[in-house]
Amino acid sequence: MGCRATCRQVLVCVTLCCTLVFVNAEDPYRFFTWNVTYGDIYPLGVKQQGILINGQFPGPDIYSVTNNNLIINVYNSLPEPFLLSWNGVQQRRNSYEDGVYGTTCPIPPGKNFTYILQVKDQIGSFYYYPSLAFHKAAGGFGGIRILSRPLIPVPFPEPADDFTVLIGDWYKANHTALKAILDRGHKLPSPDGILVNGRGPNQTYFTFQPGKTYRLRISNVGLQHSLNFRIQGHKMKLVEVEGTHTLQTTYSSLDVHAGQSYSVLVTADQTARDYYIAVSTRFTTKILTTTAILHYSNSAKQVSGPIPGGPTIEIDWSLNQARSIRRVPCNSLLIPDIATGLAMTNLTASGPRPNPQGSYHYGMINLTRTIKLESSAAQVNGKQRYAVNSVSFVPADTPLKIADYFKIGGVFRVGSISDHPTGKKMYLDTSVMGADFRAFVEIVFQNHENIVQSWHINGYSFWVVGMDGGVWTPASRKQYNLRDAVSRSTTQVYPKSWTAIYIALDNVGMWNIRSEFWARQYLGQQFYLRVYSPVESPRDEYPIPKNALLCGRATGRRTRPL
Ligand SMILES: *[C@@H]1O[C@H](CO)[C@@H](O)[C@H](O)[C@H]1NC(C)=O
Ligand SMILES: *[C@@H]1O[C@H](CO)[C@@H](O)[C@H](O)[C@H]1NC(C)=O
Ligand SMILES: *[C@@H]1O[C@H](CO)[C@@H](O)[C@H](O)[C@H]1NC(C)=O
Ligand SMILES: *[C@@H]1O[C@H](CO)[C@@H](O)[C@H](O)[C@H]1NC(C)=O
Ligand SMILES: *[C@@H]1O[C@H](CO)[C@@H](O)[C@H](O)[C@H]1NC(C)=O
Ligand SMILES: *[C@@H]1O[C@H](CO)[C@@H](O)[C@H](O)[C@H]1NC(C)=O
Repeated sequence: MGCRATCRQVLVCVTLCCTLVFVNAEDPYRFFTWNVTYGDIYPLGVKQQGILINGQFPGPDIYSVTNNNLIINVYNSLPEPFLLSWNGVQQRRNSYEDGVYGTTCPIPPGKNFTYILQVKDQIGSFYYYPSLAFHKAAGGFGGIRILSRPLIPVPFPEPADDFTVLIGDWYKANHTALKAILDRGHKLPSPDGILVNGRGPNQTYFTFQPGKTYRLRISNVGLQHSLNFRIQGHKMKLVEVEGTHTLQTTYSSLDVHAGQSYSVLVTADQTARDYYIAVSTRFTTKILTTTAILHYSNSAKQVSGPIPGGPTIEIDWSLNQARSIRRVPCNSLLIPDIATGLAMTNLTASGPRPNPQGSYHYGMINLTRTIKLESSAAQVNGKQRYAVNSVSFVPADTPLKIADYFKIGGVFRVGSISDHPTGKKMYLDTSVMGADFRAFVEIVFQNHENIVQSWHINGYSFWVVGMDGGVWTPASRKQYNLRDAVSRSTTQVYPKSWTAIYIALDNVGMWNIRSEFWARQYLGQQFYLRVYSPVESPRDEYPIPKNALLCGRATGRRTRPL
């Protein structure tokens, strides 16, 4: 019956379309010039040195439409190397522009680098952030929104306005002080507070016209804590998760784990006054809470009353909420698949385009590989480290992708991390896992620790097919959601629990897989997945950009033959 054949044909079709786009059609361009500087910020009332973009903290939002080319010229006016990365932007065939140290040379102080990205076949809410050192603790982040193209239906009416809401835990200590603690081999203390759009309690206002509906694009840009988001007296209708339009479920509060993005619709349907927006830490013994203000334009009264409380039940509540987050809405959008009789989502309304991948049903494809990733925390040489499958990542002297391009040996070894837990004692290495282009892979994240974890994969979005307490076994597959799981790029793993994802490795390149718990990724809880195609063709992967910076052992090389 050949569903697989169908899927392959679909993939070939997609590839052909893309090739044509690459060669002929010009999608619209958007140009940005950004100057990255240090500047004084006072988010928790004390003066701090923040990382500003064009003088702003947080940085400016990137507005774009599916398939736009984004040309972002970043001037590094810091006295140290700097890089931006694009959380959730897939960089199709283009890992050189990914902006993490494994793919891209840092922008030296006083120099600039122009990123050339395309937000290919994507919609949704994402963010950018500084990827080197511990810069993320100083700012340098901002929202990215990718709107649907005008003719593509969006499964809800156009909101009256659309706000970026960047939430995250925050330290009063500066990023160099925090980095020094980690470099000495210690854990970080608890954060001091929570910021909403770079500001402390009651400093951020969102103005709503009575009766109108607004979209909030909420991203957790913080360093570690899961955050619960809620609005006094108002409900939130979830509509999008990291590029997937969702079943429109109404929530009174939402758990947003480190690195995740959600869009909700909120209607100003209450008495005209001001209301608290509350954001508080989850799964922590000491709960940090901050507030922002939802202001009705005709408000007659300041915020008052108790700050709305968050959920008190920890894991089960959150797990049930996670399971309720599903792909797109109503029955009219479900069409029967002729071959199987199963309902399939009509992705016309859930994705970026009338999508041939609409017939690419993730639940119908045979797995080609299972990867099991187990995290751990331990001391190595007397210093705190974190690992995946016993390997604690250490950066090489040359970005891995660049070393790969120039075939510079000795920088990394494919296979330097096992695709299953080994039970070995933790050790340091520049861990790179090999994978075949077009493989269809199951990845199981197993968490034996007593904290919530959050994992992100660059270059991809993946289907979150299952999560539960305990240890994953093949029998856990019986409870997978193979119908309407969301496709996203960041997933949580609850304490002493597992999360399973399916991922179609359709994007050649060198891709970072990391903990979004920032101290953990800094101290080694990350690695790179090298998705490899033996065919060296721009159909599978773009050539190295002409303006690529070269560093480490690639310094002075030429990106093109003479
Ligand atoms: C998946 O594998 C099974 C068993 O090997 C086979 O019968 C089936 O046709 C395969 N399905 C697809 C879609 O390739
Ligand atoms: C960046 O900002 C700094 C400080 O305002 C300024 O001195 C510098 O000239 C700016 N650089 C660019 C390229 O705009
Ligand atoms: C730096 O900016 C200049 C002027 O816009 C541009 O021509 C050049 O390509 C940029 N450098 C890099 C490495 O992208
Ligand atoms: C960062 O914090 C350290 C330790 O408190 C301090 O010595 C240093 O001056 C700070 N740096 C800046 C630029 O504020
Ligand atoms: C502002 O925020 C804090 C905590 O978030 C709260 O306790 C305080 O009462 C708030 N209200 C006003 C009007 O300042
Ligand atoms: C898919 O949804 C779109 C938008 O609602 C609709 O126009 C189209 O007819 C649907 N396609 C199918 C096959 O149901």
